[in-house]
Formats: sequence, structure tokens, C-alpha cells
Amino acid sequence: MLLDSSSFLLFFGRFHPLIVHLPIGFIILAGIFELISWKKKVDLNLAITYGLLIGAIFGIIAIILGLMLASDGGYNDGVLNIHKWTGISTAAFSSIAYFFKINFDKINWAQKAYRSTLILTLVLLSVTGHYGGNLTHGSTYLLEYAPNSIRLLAGLKPPRDRITVLDSALVYEDVVHYIFESKCIVCHNSDKAKGELLLLDPESILQGGENGPIITAGDPSESELFRRITLDSNHDDFMPSEGRTPLTKEETSLLEWWIEEGTPFDKKVIDLVLSDRIKNYLKEIGIGKELSFLESLVLPSVSQGIYDSIAAEGFRLKTISGNSSWFEVSYSSYNSDELTKEKLSILLLAKENITWMNLSGTSVQDDWLSDIGQFTNLTELRINNTQITNEGIKHLVALEHLEYLNVYATQLTDDAAESILQLSGLKKLYIWQTKITPEGAAEIMAAAPELKVETGI
Ligand code: HEC
Repeated sequence: MLLDSSSFLLFFGRFHPLIVHLPIGFIILAGIFELISWKKKVDLNLAITYGLLIGAIFGIIAIILGLMLASDGGYNDGVLNIHKWTGISTAAFSSIAYFFKINFDKINWAQKAYRSTLILTLVLLSVTGHYGGNLTHGSTYLLEYAPNSIRLLAGLKPPRDRITVLDSALVYEDVVHYIFESKCIVCHNSDKAKGELLLLDPESILQGGENGPIITAGDPSESELFRRITLDSNHDDFMPSEGRTPLTKEETSLLEWWIEEGTPFDKKVIDLVLSDRIKNYLKEIGIGKELSFLESLVLPSVSQGIYDSIAAEGFRLKTISGNSSWFEVSYSSYNSDELTKEKLSILLLAKENITWMNLSGTSVQDDWLSDIGQFTNLTELRINNTQITNEGIKHLVALEHLEYLNVYATQLTDDAAESILQLSGLKKLYIWQTKITPEGAAEIMAAAPELKVETGI
């Protein structure tokens, strides 16, 4: 036999999306002609009658093809059922409307029933079409680019703005999910889970498909997902299937990199090993084209002499994400020599280059922070688990690029809010186990809605 029975069903079934436009066109045309003949008092009855008849006939054909297509599986049962039954009803009511139309003058109640039947047919047609669209594209397709106000009305979350700045982009949200969304999610979503696989969120990705997990963290060559996207595009298993636009070389390599790096879901791209090759690939998908504050800095590199004198005071100095001019400096709370103001002042030798500073758990005092206030390129500061009070925080208000401030387990009170709110670039603030009350925290959040405040509750 040329085709086995399931191929036979699918061969015809795939014509459903094509044929389905015919009943839609004919039935809508009948509706429009009815409106015109009623308004303009012209006789379009013949055209309307044929419209309804041909609409009903093609409707029945579309139903048969649709049932064949559905036999392939992989659709959300709930959505499929609504689509199936509204579709069947549309064809049925279109036939009834046709019957009333041809008997308009013969049966006296046909006149009354006709108009409502036609309206019902049109309503059923739109509902069927809508659910059919959801089956093909997923239920969020229609409103994906709608303004937020409309999305909210429809109960959808406002979309998260994609981060395209290299040092804050997230590897899953801004890279992996972005790629899946553009090339895979049409077929692997909750309305249509081909291969029983959803690629919507970390849970569904980790769960895998009908043949189990699709990723072996750390090992692309053992990962079904990677195998599928790197096969010859004519291979049966190649993804995306059905001749959809394949992944680019860059997208494929980025997914490979993500798997090699252990498939993290909450890390930033810069937390992973980031070669120049990967950076270029990221640019291809729009990440890192825009310079962040740090990238826009032109800094001299730190001389070996300065590096050594800072290290000699017990600090650990590390470059950030391979850029030799930005430094992360930390002082371990386990250091046998306690931190002193003099030691801290040695850091001023590299004050432009130090962009992250970690003094958590040290003996840092309020007045020492006046030195820290001079590190104007600082973007992250950790002074948690110290004796710092509101007085100390006042010295930091000039740090306009500070994005991350951790002051948990310090002596801060609600009055610290005034200084904190002057840090205009701040994005994340950790204040648990301080004397800041829930009301105080709520005030900070209200005054700076963009700021993420972690209160530990
Ligand atoms: C046009 C629809 C379509 C698109 C687009 C698509 N897939 Fe699939 N996918 C399928 C179908 C159908 C199956 C089940 C049949 C099979 O295993 O080949 C499947 C199965 C899979 C499986 C195997 C699941 C299992 O457990 O067997 C993986 C992995 C997969 N797809 C990954 C992807 C990735 C990654 C993309 C995006 C690059 C993608 N798919 C895009 C239709 C699609």
C-alpha cells in the first residue's frame, strides 16, 4: 500500500486549514448580502441561498478533514472539543438557515426563525474560528502584541520587557525562551503539545516530552533537544518540523552553550562562561548591542603595583566577566586581620575600576562609608551583616549607578528611606533583618515602584 492509514488520514487532514476558509467566506458573504438587501432593498436572495448552501457543504468537508487532522494528537483536548463542536454546529445551523431561506414564503414561521438562525450561525462561526486559531497558534497569539490595557482586560499578564543589555540579560528569559518563542512554541504550547512536549517554562522543559527528558544538563550531545536541532533538515526528527524556519547557526550555538553551562534558568548571561564568539552570537539575537553603563566606561587598566598593594591588605580582587578593567573587590569576614578604615582607603587607588564591592560581615563603620561614597562607578555593594546605621547610608547617596544594595542584618531604620531613595539607579535592595518596619518597606516600594525590595517575608 502506498500510504498506511495514519499517513492517509494526515495527508487529507492537513488540507483542513486550507479548506476551512471556504465555508467561512461563503457564510460571511451570505450574512453581508442579507444586510445589503435589507438596507438597500435589493434582491440578493439567490446569491444568499447559494452562499448558505455552499457554506454548509464546504463546512461538512472541513469537519471531516478536521477530524482526520485531529487524529494526529498533540492538541489540547479542551480547546479541541470546543472547536470541534462549534464547528459542527456552524455547519448544522448554516444548513438550517438554508432550509428556512428556501422555505421563506412557504412556512410562515420560517421568516421569523430565519434571521436569528443566520445570526447564530455567524456567532458560532466566529467562535469556531477563534478556537481553531488557538489550536494553531496558542491562545495568547492574538493578543501577543496588544497594548497592555487590552492584555490586562483579557486576563493576560503584561509581557516582560526583554532585557537586551549584556550585563543584565538573563540567560533563560532573554536568550533561551526568546529562541523557543520565535521558533518552537507554536507547536509546543499548552493548546498544542506536539510530542507531548511544552517548551513554555522551566518546569515543562525539564519534564520533557513523550520520550522523557530532552536535555542532559552539561552535555549537548546527550540531549534530545540538541540532537533534533542539529540533524539534517530533511531528517524526519528535525526540529522545527514541517518546513518551519530552522534555527540560525547562532541560535543553535547559543542553545548548545546554555546546555553546556548546565541549563541554568535564573542566571544572567554574564554569570556563565562568555567567550567573544558567544558574545557575537548574543548580538545576533539583539543582546549586547546597546552599551550598559559599565560597558560605556573607558577605564585605564589597574597596574600590577596597585593590584598587589590592594591584595596585600587582604582584599580579593577579581575581574568581572573577562573585562580586565572592571573589578569585584571583597574582604572576607573570615580574614584573621579585621578590616580597618586605613585598609579600606587603599581601595581608593582603583576607585574608578571597582564596580562591585563586598564588605559583608566585616567591621565596617558608618564613617568609613564616606570613602565608599567616592566609588562613583560602583554598581553593586554588599554591606550586609555589619553595624551600619542610617548615618552610614547617607554617605552613599552620590552613587548614582548603584543598582544592587544589600544591607540585610544591619541597624537601618525607616529613616534610611530618604537616603535610599536618592540612589536613582537602584534596582535591587535587600533589607531583611533590619529595623525597617513593614510599613517603612512599603513606603520605599511605593516611592520607587521599579525597585525590587527583598524584605524576607
Ligand atoms: C510545526 C510544528 C513544530 C515546531 C515548530 C517544532 N516542533 Fe518539536 N515536535 C513537533 C512534533 C509533531 C513532534 C512529535 C513528533 C516527533 O517526535 O518528531 C515534536 C517533537 C519534539 C521533540 C521530541 C519530544 C519527545 O519527547 O519525543 C523535541 C525535543 C522537540 N520537538 C523540540 C523542538 C524544538 C527545540 C523546536 C524549536 C526549534 C521545535 N521542536 C519546533 C512539532 C514541532
